[in-house]
Amino acid sequence: MQIFLDTANLEEIKKYASYGLLDGVTTNPSLIAKEGVSLEKRIKEICAVVDGPVSAEVLATDYQGMLDEARTYAGWAPNVFVKLPLTMNGIKACRTLTGESIHVNMTLVFSINQAILAAKAGADLVSPFVGRLDDISEDGMSLVRDMVQVFRINSWGAKVLAASIRHPEHVAEAARAGAGIVTIPPAILEQMFVHPLTEKGLAQFLADWEKVKDKQK
Ligand code: G3P
Repeated sequence: MQIFLDTANLEEIKKYASYGLLDGVTTNPSLIAKEGVSLEKRIKEICAVVDGPVSAEVLATDYQGMLDEARTYAGWAPNVFVKLPLTMNGIKACRTLTGESIHVNMTLVFSINQAILAAKAGADLVSPFVGRLDDISEDGMSLVRDMVQVFRINSWGAKVLAASIRHPEHVAEAARAGAGIVTIPPAILEQMFVHPLTEKGLAQFLADWEKVKDKQK
């Protein structure tokens, strides 16, 4: 499973890229808006740091507007993946753009039928929003499991990108489900490093060593 960072914050992206942990980055209009910087500037900055796919979402909702924005974004860097919403226009634009070898991430996916349409339209990545389904008392991870199974049975090349991740257990569940990618907010990636027994064990090892270190020579 690949790990993407779900943020438009350049410092966080640089930090985790320096650990060699990042296979890609996802952004959305809400994440870009928080940064107070233009979409074009930030996507170009991210693409200079990360070699893998960097998702940039269209703002247009009409077919032609989506195509125009997508073609512009795709010119910013070779690793830009255009994020399209799962609407009728989004699916139509996906088919056109993938026909031009522009990479597409279909986003705002909340049902297996939407995921099937995205895969059939040639999307490279299909993003089920796990946390937002959990928020309305549905089981977001069961959609991830369904998608992995249906894509595999049909030998569709689209990757399942588990998104809207709210806690570390979502990451573990996505890995168990066989998701190709999980996109993780920085605060949750940070939590994945931590276990109280690691802290406690390290403190004990260092304390024990302190008692005998002078006798080591
Ligand atoms: O990038 C899209 C997705 O991960 C959004 O997550 O937490 O706003 O539902 P969230």
